[in-house]
Amino acid sequence: MARKIVAGNWKMNKTVSEGAQLVEELKSGLAKVDVSDVTVVVSPTYVSLSEVVKVAEGSAVNVAAQNVHQEANGAYTGEISADILKSVGVGYVIIGHSERREYFGENAADLVKKVDAVIAQGLTPIYCCGEVKHQRESGKQNEIVGGQIKDELFHLSSEDFSKVVVAYEPVWAIGTGLTASPDQAQDMHAFIRGFVAEKFGQEIADETSILYGGSCKPSNAAEIFSKKDVDGGLIGGAALKADDFIGIITAFN
Ligand code: PGA
Repeated sequence: MARKIVAGNWKMNKTVSEGAQLVEELKSGLAKVDVSDVTVVVSPTYVSLSEVVKVAEGSAVNVAAQNVHQEANGAYTGEISADILKSVGVGYVIIGHSERREYFGENAADLVKKVDAVIAQGLTPIYCCGEVKHQRESGKQNEIVGGQIKDELFHLSSEDFSKVVVAYEPVWAIGTGLTASPDQAQDMHAFIRGFVAEKFGQEIADETSILYGGSCKPSNAAEIFSKKDVDGGLIGGAALKADDFIGIITAFN
């Protein structure tokens, strides 16, 4: 069975002290509930990573970076490599978020290298895929998401693919208040699992955590997470407040 994961993506929010404070609140809130079967991840900005790793140490909170540069080192002003991320103690890296694709022009060639760089450092990629509105409206969502996964992940060996967490994030649902219905999420997640099974086999597909992202909140998480192929969520806005985020983490219960 796939591991249940709820990952918060803080995007460009929270100063270092605000991030540390949020993790303190998460730690005390999570100590009061049973979340032993859910992996909890937070993704602060690069500059907050060290501090958040320190505050989270010894707790149920794991730490991800929101991006990585594909090269190992060198003259790439302003960029951060997987090796540097590893050195601050993060365990996960979000790759290919739709905002990175849309605003920073990340393409399949970049994402292939990023996935490889992250796996080479022993970190876990949280790989994002998803269709935009007009693609959904014209019924092309499976073709689009399947194409992304094929172009960006199918170069991996089975062993390396089994280290990847997949996040399905319909772009039309991100930060818009629109959410995929639980059935739309389930349909896509089942498609992704089947597509992965064709390439890497059913066993690896069954073990792959497939997260839903896009306006997930405490009020809709339980229904979405109750779907068979939804193994958790990648949460933006609702990850910025401890109560909301904990409300989503405990939606599995
Ligand atoms: P949202 O963002 O929950 O604010 O829609 C999700 C994401 O971008 O990962």
